[in-house]
Amino acid sequence: MFKQAIIAAAAALLFATAASAGVADHHTKMGLDCKSCHGPDGKGEVTTQTCTGCHQVDALVASTKDVKPTNPHVSPHYGNELDCASCHMGHGDSENFCNQCHQFDFKVP
Ligand code: HEC
Ligand code: HEC
Ligand code: HEC
Ligand code: HEC
Repeated sequence: MFKQAIIAAAAALLFATAASAGVADHHTKMGLDCKSCHGPDGKGEVTTQTCTGCHQVDALVASTKDVKPTNPHVSPHYGNELDCASCHMGHGDSENFCNQCHQFDFKVP
């Protein structure tokens, strides 16, 4: 009985942790539901095209043009065509893809 309660609490904690990381959380806090990314059945695969359906790429590049030391949304290597999931995870901690080689002090939301 006691053991089960602990397991349930641990599971709840795990779920809470998973739900609080990644871009999905930003969006659900703004009132966009799961379907806004996962489609009408709520289970569809989420691709870069899903993101750019709402975040128009040129506008995105323009909105971060003054980010120092360089615009994360455009680079000499990948242009503006790097997959969003290289940095912004759906349900996990974001990453700074560029820092495999550079030292850019980005705060990836
Ligand atoms: C901002 C877009 C976005 C929203 C909103 C969103 N997700 Fe996701 N979800 C993703 C992305 C991207 C992935 C791919 C894996 C990853 O990056 O974590 C994913 C993966 C998943 C997966 C793993 C299975 C798979 O298809 O890979 C589940 C389950 C899931 N999401 C459930 C949900 C639920 C439930 C909600 C609503 C509370 C939700 N998602 C809202 C973007 C989103
Ligand atoms: C249904 C439309 C929609 C989809 C699909 C969508 N977004 Fe958003 N997203 C928004 C809106 C609206 C905002 C708030 C206004 C803004 O910052 O552009 C936002 C905000 C953001 C932010 C800023 C969050 C912050 O706290 O500063 C990031 C990063 C982001 N989205 C990434 C993504 C990624 C990556 C995907 C694909 C996995 C995605 N979005 C899919 C509508 C969408
Ligand atoms: C190389 C890593 C990287 C990739 C790839 C990337 N982003 Fe970002 N993104 C960032 C960083 C870093 C910021 C925060 C910039 C800042 O400091 O304002 C950001 C900010 C944003 C914002 C908030 C913009 C604003 O006006 O403040 C949105 C929306 C967003 N990204 C969407 C996307 C989408 C959609 C894609 C794919 C088309 C994408 N990002 C690909 C790193 C990335
Ligand atoms: C696999 C390694 C690698 C990755 C990943 C990488 N770069 Fe680079 N990048 C380099 C190298 C090496 C140079 C130097 C090329 C030169 O000086 O001619 C460079 C040069 C640059 C330059 C021009 C010179 C400078 O340092 O100002 C910019 C801007 C740049 N990268 C942006 C980015 C951005 C933004 C990302 C992430 C979206 C990124 N890079 C990811 C290896 C990488």
